[in-house]
Amino acid sequence: MKPARSTVYLVGAGPGDPGLMTVRGMSLLQQADVVVYDRLVSAVLLEFARGDAELIDVGKGPGRKSVTQKKINQLLVERATAGRSVVRLKGGDPFMFGRGFEELVACRGAGVDCVVIPGVASVAAVPAAAGIPVTLRGVARSFAVITAKTGVGLADSRHDYDALSRIDTVVILMGRHKLSTIVDGLRCAGRADETPVACISHGTTPRQREVFSTLGKIVERVEGAALEAPMITVVGEVVAVSRATVDDAIAAIYGSLPV
Ligand SMILES: C[S@@+](CC[C@H](N)C(=O)[O-])C[C@H]1O[C@@H](n2cnc3c(N)ncnc32)[C@H](O)[C@@H]1O
Repeated sequence: MKPARSTVYLVGAGPGDPGLMTVRGMSLLQQADVVVYDRLVSAVLLEFARGDAELIDVGKGPGRKSVTQKKINQLLVERATAGRSVVRLKGGDPFMFGRGFEELVACRGAGVDCVVIPGVASVAAVPAAAGIPVTLRGVARSFAVITAKTGVGLADSRHDYDALSRIDTVVILMGRHKLSTIVDGLRCAGRADETPVACISHGTTPRQREVFSTLGKIVERVEGAALEAPMITVVGEVVAVSRATVDDAIAAIYGSLPV
């Protein structure tokens, strides 16, 4: 698919492994005039951009502040208004805790065409890469996704831990540095200390590392292992089943249900 001039494409880069980007996203990336990218986007992907493409890094890095959202919106609008095709490459899916919708609104508000190319979201892909299904027949019929970063734009930024404690699987994003706060919230709402938990860092990449533990011990274990962000935490019985023997997994899945 050839990108149209004067258009911004909000493209999901997937969770980390360059092979998990969509074919459509890759085709646009290979032909775009301008590529505006975030920190979580694999450097390997940028090698697919045209040799003469303008590459703009707007991500936060060690010792470097990220470019403000307002500035990013302006950049996208300016480049597209100058008649160029722009790929805005964002980690995972552009709308999943990614501020992609704000960029879409900014473009449309300025009269710039904006097309969304969904990406493989880390929320389910990273657990899957660690062998953990976020839903599982007979074990987990519901899952919730929360961010540990709260307080932006919400009147009450506290999570409803009582409601979360009734969800089978809870997936926590952006939780590396607030893990103890979330864990305490779930425990206070009645989630048992023995509840299985997994933390996965740099999922789907060669740097992937995992810690498997329980709600009562996970904070200590993650600190001990010096797990780094980006990290996803999965809370629920699916974590235990992912580590069980085949016989135990079959018993958990089917129980008395017909196979
Ligand atoms: C700002 S959010 C963006 C999420 C992204 N839009 C998506 O759909 O995956 C960044 C958070 O996603 C999670 N994350 C993204 N990629 C990850 C990866 N490869 N391994 C572990 N966690 C990841 C981490 O919790 C990280 O702090």
